[in-house]
Amino acid sequence: MTEQGNLAQIGVVGLAVMGSNLARNFARNGHTVAVYNRSTEKTRNFMANHGAEGDFIPSETITDFVASLEKPRRAIIMVQAGNATDAVIHQLADAMDDGDIIIDGGNALYTDTIRREQEIADRGLNFVGAGISGGEEGALNGPAIMPGGPEKTWEALGPLLESIAANVDGVPCVTHIGPDGAGHFVKMVHNGIEYADMQVIGEAYQLLRYGAGMTPAEIAEVFRTWNAGDLDSYLIDITAEVLAQVDAETGKPLIDLIVDSAGQKGTGRWTVKAALDLGIPVTGIGEAVFARALSGATNQRQATIGNLPSGTLTTLAELGVDRDTFIEDVRRALYASKLVAYAQGFDEITAGSADHNWNVDPRDLATIWRGGCIIRAKFLNRIVEAYNANPELPTLLLDPYFKAELAGLIDSWRRVVTLATQIGQPIPVFASSLSYYDSLRIDRLPAALIQGQRDYFGAHTYQRVDKPGTYHTLWSGNRTEIEA
Ligand code: 6PG
Repeated sequence: MTEQGNLAQIGVVGLAVMGSNLARNFARNGHTVAVYNRSTEKTRNFMANHGAEGDFIPSETITDFVASLEKPRRAIIMVQAGNATDAVIHQLADAMDDGDIIIDGGNALYTDTIRREQEIADRGLNFVGAGISGGEEGALNGPAIMPGGPEKTWEALGPLLESIAANVDGVPCVTHIGPDGAGHFVKMVHNGIEYADMQVIGEAYQLLRYGAGMTPAEIAEVFRTWNAGDLDSYLIDITAEVLAQVDAETGKPLIDLIVDSAGQKGTGRWTVKAALDLGIPVTGIGEAVFARALSGATNQRQATIGNLPSGTLTTLAELGVDRDTFIEDVRRALYASKLVAYAQGFDEITAGSADHNWNVDPRDLATIWRGGCIIRAKFLNRIVEAYNANPELPTLLLDPYFKAELAGLIDSWRRVVTLATQIGQPIPVFASSLSYYDSLRIDRLPAALIQGQRDYFGAHTYQRVDKPGTYHTLWSGNRTEIEA
């Protein structure tokens, strides 16, 4: 019983697996939880299956659901992103009072969140777009949570969210990220990094499988070993599990029976679109999104598989490459490319935060991403340390720790990119990340030539390295230079 009678501290709207698991997580942590689903059958099923796990107040109408919440009312919406979200938000808002809080825990597009927050603020209520990561298991046992919205809502929400979030070294994997769309923006970039992380793992697998000729079971063992070192992470861990899985029906490795066409629901694509608008090169994430798109271009691939000239290919054996050395080189290429993807993701967050005046602290993200979320990894501790040492780092790659790591990775990385090209295996993120790295590192880029070309055909002007000012060459005249 609460001060306000038998009311719930939190409500969950939408009882599909994520919503249902989140509701159970709140209940397990001692909260009374109001639950509502558009189809009453789902609510009844939820109560039949999980009602005994804690204190739940089920409702069959939104009005009853809202009435069962203690004030300020807090309701988390866990419905599929899109129009359904708008409908539920407004139904809730109709039944709520000033100061109540509507939380959207889905993967909403951050610009929708900004719009929704404004609409809800205009009605005297609070709207919080919260990124929640960790999948179904995380929702139940401890996700990473990235709430945005008005800072004042943190007082009413913080303790509740902290009680259900994952916890690393006593620190809950949740914090107020920043105002309006900040939470969903960083969750979007989290997912973009997730795409790149998954793709670099995929590229490593591809090279070990079709370059080194290893079996899925052997590669699973390699990933298990990697998981004990710098690459220790959830995604490496589950990769070993997937690769070790044997199909019960055929006795073959499951991986060989899964169609090689990767799905995507949109957050990776959104990350790249937002980065394009911000002018931030998230090349690793971009290549990862495009790699999924290419894998799904079924008609095109049907026409091209085995039907395009490969040129003269060789094998690692012909090149005399030692298998163990190659495995270690691939590990290092994966690590370096992953570093680039994280550096680019953090660049996008910094730029997005500056563009929207959100004041997002990159250390907060690195801290809460250490647990609960899909990209949880040991090396996030290093990112926290990097930003602690220098909050103004121009790129994560320049942090002394990562710089030293890169010194130990770079030769392997170059070897892997070269070998992959020679054996004809695609490594879009390994290769583009290395080009990105070299582009940052060298002192002259071909952009000078592009400026010359732009000036030639469009009088777009250029600047000189040896004196200030803006110049144009009279290309179609006597080719003298004038100050523009
Ligand atoms: C998470 C995940 C989760 C989901 C994404 C990606 O953080 O828990 O990112 O949000 O896996 O929707 O899904 P797609 O790969 O289908 O785009």
